[in-house]
Formats: sequence, C-alpha cells, structure tokens
Amino acid sequence: MNEQLKKQKKPSKIGEARSPYKSYTEYLDEDSQKVPSLLLEEHFEYLGSDDLSMERYTSEEFFRKEAECMWTRVWQFACRVEDIPNVGDSLVYDILDWSFVLVRSSKDKISAYYNSCLHRGRKLRTHRTSTPDIKCPFHGYCWNLDGTLKHTPADWDFPHVKEEEWKLPEVRVEIWEGFVFINMNDKAPSLENYLDPLPEHHKRWNLGDCKKVIHVSRVVPGNWKTTMEAFMESFHASEIHPQIRPFTTDENARYDIYGDHMNRNIALTGKPSPHSEEVTEQEILDTIFYGSGRVENEDKVLVPEGEEARKVAARVMRENLTAVNGHDFSDKSDAEMLDALVYNVFPNFSPWGGFPNNLIYRFRPNGTRVDSSIMEVIFLERNNKNPQSEQKYEPLPIKYLKEDQSWADAEELGGLGLIFDQDMSNIPEVESGMRTSKKGKVTLANYQESRLRHFHQTIDKYIAKGPLKP
Ligand code: FES
Ligand SMILES: [Fe+2]
Repeated sequence: MNEQLKKQKKPSKIGEARSPYKSYTEYLDEDSQKVPSLLLEEHFEYLGSDDLSMERYTSEEFFRKEAECMWTRVWQFACRVEDIPNVGDSLVYDILDWSFVLVRSSKDKISAYYNSCLHRGRKLRTHRTSTPDIKCPFHGYCWNLDGTLKHTPADWDFPHVKEEEWKLPEVRVEIWEGFVFINMNDKAPSLENYLDPLPEHHKRWNLGDCKKVIHVSRVVPGNWKTTMEAFMESFHASEIHPQIRPFTTDENARYDIYGDHMNRNIALTGKPSPHSEEVTEQEILDTIFYGSGRVENEDKVLVPEGEEARKVAARVMRENLTAVNGHDFSDKSDAEMLDALVYNVFPNFSPWGGFPNNLIYRFRPNGTRVDSSIMEVIFLERNNKNPQSEQKYEPLPIKYLKEDQSWADAEELGGLGLIFDQDMSNIPEVESGMRTSKKGKVTLANYQESRLRHFHQTIDKYIAKGPLKP
C-alpha cells in the first residue's frame, strides 16, 4: 500500500462513505488548465445499503419483467448516423425478441420499422444493406423507404389490402450527437428529456463531430447486467488489472449519480493507485504510454526533473491529437485529455467523455437468454478540422467475436483487449457462483458500487409501471 497517498480521514456517517485516500476531486485542484465545473462538482447520493437478490441476475421471471416493463419503455442506442450515410442504407437492431430496421429514408432522415413483413411476417432484413426500397424476400411485397406500400405482388389476389393502411409500422427514432436511438413506447418522454443532463455534460466534447473507427462485438457468458456492471466501478481494478496500478486511481475514483438515467465513474490517469508500489514519475509515464498502448511513439517521452508524469502525458496527448485532427486542445484540462470519464445511460449505453478517441460501450441480452449477453466496444474519432479532401466515409464493418474468442483477437483494440479479457475472466464465474450461492444476495459497497444500485433502483421503477405492449 502506498502510504504517501493515505490521508488521516475516515468516513463519518454511513451515507457519506468516501475512501481515506486522496480523492479524484482533490487531484483536480492540481490540473495544469481550468477544469470545467461539470467535472469539479461531485453529485453523489446515498441510495441505501440493502442487499440485492441474485435472482435479479439469474431468474427467467425477473428477466421477463425487464423485457415487458423496461425494455419496451426505454431509449436504446441502435446505431450511429454514419452507419447508414446514404439514402437507402439500412441495418438491423435486435433487442430480445424485437427487431428493427433502421433506414436512411431521405438525406436528413432516419426511420425505423418493426422488422416484420405485413404479409406473413417474415423479417424484412437480416443484415446491413443498401437498396432503393424495402422488398420482402419471401413473396416480394415492397415498401418505399418512407414506409408507404410500393408494390403488392399478385395484387388481383389481395383486393382486401388497402394501400393506405399498409404503411410499415414505425418505432420512434431520435438522435443525439450522431447516436440514433429507438423507443417502443409512443408515450415516452423525448430523448433529450430522457438523457438529461448528459447532453449538457457532453456538449464540450461534441461527439456529433466524430465518426466510428472501431466496432467490436462479443458474446459474453453472463447476464447482461453482470457484464455491464463489470464496467461500472473501479473497485475491481487493483485486483483484476494490477498492471495499471502505477498510473490510475481505483479505490479513490469518483462516482456521481444524476436523476434516473445517468451516472458516471471517473478514474484518474497519471497518479498511482493507493495499492501501487512506490513508482517514479518516469515509470508512471512509461506505463501510461507504452504499457497501455495509448500512444504510439517511436521516441520515448521523458519526464523532466521536477515535473509530473500526469502533466507531461496530458501535454503529449494535446500535441498528438492536434497533429492528427487539427483542433486546438491547448486550454483543455489534463482531466479531459487523460481520465476515464465513464458515463452510463440507463439501461445499457456508455459514452465516455473527454477529447481523445472516445470509447462507447453497449450491453444487451443475447436474444432472450438470461445468462448470455452481447457487449460492444466502439471507438469514435474526431473529424479533422481541416479535411484535405472531401473523403467519403465508408460505413465500418462490425467485427463479431464469438464466446470462445478473446478481446485480444481484435487487434484494433491494442492494449485494451487484454484489459477487457481480464474483465471477462470474472463473468462466467459470477454467473455460476450466483447459482450456487447459499446467501442468494449481493452486498454492494455504499460508494464505489452506488452506480449499480442506482440502475437497479431505476429498473424497479420501470417494473412498478407494469407491462407495456408495444
Ligand atoms: S412474407 Fe413478406 S412477402 Fe410474403
Ligand atoms: Fe475492468
């Protein structure tokens, strides 16, 4: 344990639990630039200490309630606008039994339809494609991109089909910063309302000015919440990712909770964990840059005598990013250049904040299986401020990893693949451990695992509304 970092402070009351180590907020005082207030301000709320039943993760009954009461009502990230850039481009978004076709129906409009033919119900699309209309492969019923009926095969046999009544049923679509969301509930609040205060926080990071450059999807043998929750706290980092101890906070990371649908975890980069061995500033910088694959640089960066690795790392990140995309980051805080600003939007979408290439996670049940999930990792790259030529963006293919493949098989993820594989090592063991548990309950940490409790409480609020038939 690094005694240098330990402070003589103990939490006073149960609801005010904080680590005794130097906190993320205290580190922000040392930033080389002005830190935006949205990072300085803590927004923690004590949500109780009751145990959670493990049936929330393992029972078919609870899974069914989530399906009927929650997934039918929430805004779900379906794709990015750049996934379907041209009129006629379409892709499929599946959640549980439901499937939707997202179509660029006109230059400035994306529509989404229930993926089921009005004739005998065949799925209209099974994969990404680009066509001038939406034709069912079974008998050839065909719709225009705006969902109006274009062609009835053997129309003499369908005098009972009224063209004006045969518009493809739509699901609600709204867009935030290039993220296309769908919602099966016609009465749901607007996306902007639902996301609040995420849009305000993310305004300065402007993910709408970014494009997808990596998209990897993997089947994970665990309930969708087990998988997602492996990425909602830094508590596990010291045990599971010991190689990052020299340069990141874990037990002293920050957790904030906002409304029903948003929370965040911030882990600092460039200072050692309270559980790290003593390390020099040069060792910290080396681990950030060369141990995590964050920077590809032939020449080793040195920390000048008396300087701190965190500030040097932030400076190098600013310079490297400007060289790549032409934007000016000179007044951006060290925090926004380096730290893991991990935002989560209920129920399953996680867009990181900050200026370097932004990580996005999405977690879903794998079909209707309670014990299997799909985790996706997306990277967005900021558009060049001064594009050399009008280069056309080619929609990025998704790399699909099967359950027996590792994240490290996706070479584009670099050093992150190893980190994700370390996270994956727990998932099947948590699944089977829960099934053999005599206690049958999960006991959460009051602060470090508050984000998990927050979303469980939101699930309960949706379940209390009862089933909704879309
Ligand atoms: S099921 Fe689609 S045309 Fe027959
Ligand atoms: Fe992890």
